[in-house]
Amino acid sequence: MNILLIGSGAREHALAWKLAQSPLCTKLFIAPGNPGMAEIGILVDIRSDAIADITRFAVDQAIDLVVVGPEDPLALGLVDALDAKKIQAFGPSLAGAQLEADKTFSKKIMREALIPTAEGRSFKSMRDALNYVETRNEPLVVKAAGLARGKGVVICKDPVEALDAVRNIMEKKIFGAAGSTIVVEERLAGPEISLLAMIDGHNAYILESAQDHKRIGDNDTGPNTGGMGAFSPAPLMTEELCRRTEREIIVPLLDTLSRHEIDYRGILYAGLMLTAGGPKNLEFNCRFGDPEAQVLMLRLKSDLVEAMLACIEKRLDQITLQWDNRHAVCVVLASQGYGWERDDKVIKGMPIEGISAAAALPEVTVFHGGTALHDGQLVTSGGRVLSVCALGDTLSQARDRAYEAVGKISFKGMQYRRDIGQ
Ligand code: AMP
Ligand code: GLY
Repeated sequence: MNILLIGSGAREHALAWKLAQSPLCTKLFIAPGNPGMAEIGILVDIRSDAIADITRFAVDQAIDLVVVGPEDPLALGLVDALDAKKIQAFGPSLAGAQLEADKTFSKKIMREALIPTAEGRSFKSMRDALNYVETRNEPLVVKAAGLARGKGVVICKDPVEALDAVRNIMEKKIFGAAGSTIVVEERLAGPEISLLAMIDGHNAYILESAQDHKRIGDNDTGPNTGGMGAFSPAPLMTEELCRRTEREIIVPLLDTLSRHEIDYRGILYAGLMLTAGGPKNLEFNCRFGDPEAQVLMLRLKSDLVEAMLACIEKRLDQITLQWDNRHAVCVVLASQGYGWERDDKVIKGMPIEGISAAAALPEVTVFHGGTALHDGQLVTSGGRVLSVCALGDTLSQARDRAYEAVGKISFKGMQYRRDIGQ
């Protein structure tokens, strides 16, 4: 099969690494990819949000399967455009992707499906939002309703902070157009865990557990990021919690989506908070998590292409995925300023040293995220630069291996968490 993978982050590098291992994969194209992926596929110079260009390329190159890594092309209707050309794609349609791209829609569906979630309301008018916040005295969370790379959320400790957050998002537009509508909701407390499943329209196949670390700083301090590291399996996701989440969240969601005639196929990512009152769903994402995908791909033993085809062809109930029983850990190496500064203020262009020495260590795999080649030198080109991953018989062995590998890598301003998997 000719496969085209869309995206350029470390999640996509991990997917490319796994797709390329499939006996079904004859040729792997990646648009736009990054230098790390150039070793396993053919890089195509098309941006991941250039829907018409991707579709044209897929037709011209007789692509049999398009795998969409990030949420933006899904929310822009890439899968619908490919479907119109009879090209198979892994990922939900535009309508399904609104579960992630539009938090107002997502809340509406959750309410309709009676899915446990934070009480909340959404607002298009800043005046109305401010009036509402003034009537509340519990801690609130203010969110941009649109796509904001996991950063469009302000956790507020009191109503004064919440009023500021409303103004910052709606007036000062700190999250850009994503904040033209906001969701204000009650602040929940508890550990966070995500559950990822493949969905084929009817059936859900729950993947092995993985947990990420969202805050920039050790001990979960500082601002939220896209994710600074991950580990799998995640002991918090017990068999009982998994079944409960499936029963209370996934199944009602699928029923409600089909009532809305949304044929959801692809990955569903449920971001949960384990509150005193049971698991509550904070958000849905319509794609693999980054860095959760990195640890899951390391542990997946089955053929990813076969699994994706089963999902597209609505026969997930007929497959069983095999997983490596060992533990996987991923440590994200980020650029100076990432997490703290606006994306355009993150320091980029720094030469990167030591990847080969790191990758030569036992059971270590290094996935590229924000990297680029400048005159033959590998340099940083984004916030999250590398995902340094390792397998181990125990979590602590996997962690030690990953951190030993991290020790071999350097670039100016490199920051990472020291407590991944702890
Ligand atoms: P979201 O993009 O909605 O998942 O929010 C990103 C992060 O913000 C979550 O992973 C949580 O850490 C935090 N968060 C979101 N909603 C709430 C809430 N209602 N209460 C407490 N924390 C929240
Ligand atoms: N790691 C969280 C996410 O991908 O949304």
